[in-house]
Amino acid sequence: MGLRPLNVAKWLEFDEHVDDELALKTQLLRERYDDVVATLPGSEEAAAELVRELTANLESYHPTRSRAISDEHPIVAASRLVQEDLCLLERRDAWRLSAACVCFPSRWSLASKLGATLDEIHGPVPGYDDALAGPTNAFFDRLGAERSYWRLNWTLLDSPVLHQPRGARRPPSGALSDWFFRVERQTLRRLARSGAVVFTIRTYVAPATTLVREHPDFGEHLWRALASAPPAVQDYKGWRGVADRLADALRSG
Ligand code: HEM
Repeated sequence: MGLRPLNVAKWLEFDEHVDDELALKTQLLRERYDDVVATLPGSEEAAAELVRELTANLESYHPTRSRAISDEHPIVAASRLVQEDLCLLERRDAWRLSAACVCFPSRWSLASKLGATLDEIHGPVPGYDDALAGPTNAFFDRLGAERSYWRLNWTLLDSPVLHQPRGARRPPSGALSDWFFRVERQTLRRLARSGAVVFTIRTYVAPATTLVREHPDFGEHLWRALASAPPAVQDYKGWRGVADRLADALRSG
C-alpha cells in the first residue's frame, strides 16, 4: 500500500502556486460544479468536522492561511482553504465515498465514484482485487484518529493541466520535452467524532526535462520504474512503449 506515518504538522502543503490553484478551484466550482463536487445526503456532519480539523491545523501550522469559512456544503468550504483535493469516506455497510471536492483529478470521473465502496472505486486498477483490496479495507477499519498516513502515486502525462476529469489513459504523445511528471501526495486521517476517513490528494506537476536536468539520477530511475511495471499496469497507466521512448531521449541527450 506504500503507506508511511504522517506528521500532522505536514498534513497540508502550500507552495508558490497557491493563489493560482485556489483561483482555478474557484473557476471550476463556478463553471463545472457537478464535475468537481459530489456529496451524499447525510455527509454534512463529517464534512463540518473536517472544516474544524482543517481550520485548527491551519491556525497551528500555517497561521497566514487562516480564512473565513464560506456558507456552502462544508466539503466545498474546506476545499477552498487548501491546495489539496478532499474526499470523505464513511463506514455504512462498507467504506463508501460520501463527499468529495476534487478539482484536479488524474483522468477519473468523480461523479462515477460517489457512494462507491473502496473496491468499486478501484475497479479499473489492475491487481487491486488480488493484492490491495484486503489490506486497504483492513487498514480503513483499523485506522485511528491518533495516527495518520501518507502515500505517493505518480505518472507521466503530455499535459500540465491540473483538471483532467476524463480521457483514456493513453501513452503521452511527443517526446521527453513534451512530458510532465505528475505526483499525487495522498494522506489518510480518521476524524475522531464522526469516524469518517479524510483522503487528501495534493497534485504536483513538473516538466520531465527539468527533472532530468536538475536531478542526475532521475532519468534512469524513471526508466527503471516504467520498464519494470507489469504489462497490465503499463496499459492502465498509459505507459506502453514509454520506457523505450524515454531511453532514446536520454541517450540522445
Ligand atoms: C490505502 C489506501 C489506498 C491505496 C493503497 C490505493 C491504491 C491505489 C492504486 C494503486 C491506484 C492505481 C493508481 C495508479 O497507479 O495510477 C489507485 C487509483 C485510484 N484511487 Fe486509490 N488507493 C487508496 C485509497 C483511495 C481512496 C480513499 C480513494 C477515494 C477517493 C481512492 C481513489 C482512487 C481513484 C479514483 C483511483 C483511479 C481509479 C480509476 O482509474 O478509475 N483511493 N489507488
